[in-house]
Amino acid sequence: MPNSLPAPAFDDPKHHLRLYQGDCLDLLAAIPPSSVDLVFADPPYFLSNGGITCHAGKMVSVHKGDWDKSRGPESNHEFNRAWLAACQRILKPNGSIWVSGTAHVIHSVGFAMQQLGFKLLNDISWVKPNPPPNLSCRYFTHATETIIWAAKDKKSRHTFHYKLMKETNRGKQMKSVWEIRPPEPWEKRFGKHPTQKPVALLERILLASTNEGDVVLDPFAGSGTTLLTAFRLRRQALGCELSAEFLSLSIRRICSEMVQIELSVSRIEFSLDLDSDPMDRSCSGRSLDRPGLCSGRGLAGSL
Ligand SMILES: C[S@@+](CC[C@H](N)C(=O)[O-])C[C@H]1O[C@@H](n2cnc3c(N)ncnc32)[C@H](O)[C@@H]1O
Repeated sequence: MPNSLPAPAFDDPKHHLRLYQGDCLDLLAAIPPSSVDLVFADPPYFLSNGGITCHAGKMVSVHKGDWDKSRGPESNHEFNRAWLAACQRILKPNGSIWVSGTAHVIHSVGFAMQQLGFKLLNDISWVKPNPPPNLSCRYFTHATETIIWAAKDKKSRHTFHYKLMKETNRGKQMKSVWEIRPPEPWEKRFGKHPTQKPVALLERILLASTNEGDVVLDPFAGSGTTLLTAFRLRRQALGCELSAEFLSLSIRRICSEMVQIELSVSRIEFSLDLDSDPMDRSCSGRSLDRPGLCSGRGLAGSL
């Protein structure tokens, strides 16, 4: 029997966004089965183990946080298998999951997905145009991360907006190699997360594999990039994060985005009011409330 969900740390019923503080394994166990359309997961990469890297031209030790320390290959794999199984349970039959990682974790993720019977769809190479130099000069510069996209199981008929992706790619089929810049300065203005993903990456993922109103879940929410992007694209979203500091950063980012949208909508409202043309504003409450968002469904009913 699933446990009950704890009180959320952030809840916006109007836009169907919720963030929980805690271990994602506990949260996932409390979510009803087959209730989520898409999972995006950016789990610990287990790479904070005393190595060195180059940051802002200086040699620094790789320490993203204690949550990112390796517990040994078997234990890391057991953890990956546990949270992936929990995500698979809550995915709808045609739902899909995206998981990002470097070599430290992604092979374990891919193997766990095969063990659990996910249907592997693509492995995306996310290419970073300006990677930090390799200080040891004993390896190639690390310039990519892999993002595995998989459907719940072999029978799933996953969502893929093929035409939209082709249009976005100037009329050519989009390849599995994506060149996307790291987060822009505006994405970090409320504070820094050591492994923050760019909004542009999440935009591509959500546009490719979800519809408006779909429920998106991020078990390792970090600075809230997935929830923020879901809000921008009118998807519902749930997130889970261990750290109070990162939760607070997420909330600041999401609230600031909401304020900006409300402000731009008030400007539209003002200019519409100048126009004496009568219009039905009942459901178009939607266009004033938030352009395009009419009646959101409740977060997967009972969530
Ligand atoms: C790789 S980061 C995610 C970054 C995020 N994608 C972003 O754009 O900001 C992983 C996050 O998972 C959190 N975390 C680690 N273990 C967790 C667990 N068992 N349950 C929930 N969150 C966890 C960490 O605190 C960290 O913020």
